[in-house]
Amino acid sequence: MKLLLAVALLTVALASAGPQNSEAPTGFDNKSNGLVDDMTHQADQDKFDETEGVSDGLGPLYNAQSCRECHQNPTSGGTSQMTELRVGHQGPDHHFHNPDISIAHGTEIVSGRTLVNDRAICPNGAFAGTEIQEHVPETESIRTTRVALGLLGDGFVEAVADQTFIELARKQCKGTHRKICGQVLYVPIVEAPGETGVGRFGWKDQHASLVSFSGDAYLNEMGITTRLFPDEVTKLCNTAAEPNDPPGPDGLDDIDHFARFIRASKAPARDSQLAQTSKAERGSELFNKIGCATCHVRTLTTAPAGTKANGGTFTIPEALGRKTFYPFSDFLLHNIGTGDGIAVPMQEHYGRNMYQITWKNFSLDDFQAAQDKIRTAPLWGVRFRNRLMHDGTSSTLRDAVLRHSGEAGDVNHRFQRLSQSDQEAILEFLSSL
Ligand code: HEC
Ligand code: HEC
Repeated sequence: MKLLLAVALLTVALASAGPQNSEAPTGFDNKSNGLVDDMTHQADQDKFDETEGVSDGLGPLYNAQSCRECHQNPTSGGTSQMTELRVGHQGPDHHFHNPDISIAHGTEIVSGRTLVNDRAICPNGAFAGTEIQEHVPETESIRTTRVALGLLGDGFVEAVADQTFIELARKQCKGTHRKICGQVLYVPIVEAPGETGVGRFGWKDQHASLVSFSGDAYLNEMGITTRLFPDEVTKLCNTAAEPNDPPGPDGLDDIDHFARFIRASKAPARDSQLAQTSKAERGSELFNKIGCATCHVRTLTTAPAGTKANGGTFTIPEALGRKTFYPFSDFLLHNIGTGDGIAVPMQEHYGRNMYQITWKNFSLDDFQAAQDKIRTAPLWGVRFRNRLMHDGTSSTLRDAVLRHSGEAGDVNHRFQRLSQSDQEAILEFLSSL
């Protein structure tokens, strides 16, 4: 009887422990992490690399012609020096307001976005007199650039359960006696109207889903409309049929290929030579000891395969389930004194119909509260960046670290009180990531 009970207990224990976690694959070899075969991954990458022209629907307003143009260092899906321009102003109500940008000699106003596109497809041969170049109105006193982010390994980030971030935020706040309290932001899943998820992508955590982000980027960076974002920013000098990107013969849109390309990418690998130096190892210990890792969380684990994510539209596959990875971020929003005061623009990121839908757990106040906050920059792959922080204006790692104040003020003081050689050890460690 006793033996039976012991066996039963053991079985229960084993079942709840489930299969072991395994390490997420890393590397820059353009090979799949196991989500798809390498040929499919290459075909998805070709879509990501493809240059779009006016006949494909590029523009009318846009920033670049391919995803790769901004996400390429050291390989497709990586990062780059490319920035985008965002502006707005504070109203008498002390809230942030989006700009109204007049184009075509004042005959049209572009609103509902903070993004100011850098390029336009006209004037051209067919529309010689149509002037739609966007400019920053003088009224918009809040102005910033935001630098492109790396996408490699983001499939693992997407596969982390909402609850993991919620728990992390709770423990972080409790563990620091409320000095460091990352904010969780529920954001719309555009492909699942009404559903939200914990934001984890973009400098402002504006998306939780890679399909949503891909649709947003395709429209706002390249001007290509899709099933998720069917409305052009302006119809002026627009000739391509809508949506510019209809589903292909396999039922997948380009945005599905982009999302699958990112999901199948391997996480950034460390610089194996630097990572082994005793200086970097010492820096790694100090990074923990002085509290950098409170926000730049070293290790996360994805939800088990079979878990539903993105409002039920995405089932975590085997290749992404129970994977341990090292992003050096909590993916939460913090005020470290660098915020630009820009609140996430709703229509730009979630589509023109966003206000006609009731979104679960959605709170405009939470978005307002995040105005001056930035997501903890994931430090995996930071060695491929030489323009640091959200605005790209810090050009060395030391400059970036010294800019931390607010919630990170105490930690920064601890960094500055370290000996020169200890500080350098931390910087060497960062250079190995
Ligand atoms: C003109 C440059 C540019 C182009 C083109 C571009 N992006 Fe980006 N991308 C950025 C910038 C800048 C950010 C950071 C935006 C922010 O949060 O404000 C970003 C962020 C992202 C992120 C979030 C990554 C993370 O880890 O948080 C994803 C996903 C993404 N882009 C996908 C795409 C896809 C897919 C395409 C092609 C449809 C694309 N991008 C085209 C500049 C670009
Ligand atoms: C309170 C949370 C917090 C703490 C503590 C913290 N950071 Fe950060 N870190 C951030 C946020 C948020 C950003 C992004 C800020 C921005 O872009 O304006 C960031 C950005 C960075 C960047 C720039 C990365 C890039 O891609 O541009 C580096 C490097 C960095 N942190 C290193 C450190 C080091 C080293 C420490 C410890 C001395 C530290 N951080 C402590 C939240 C934190």
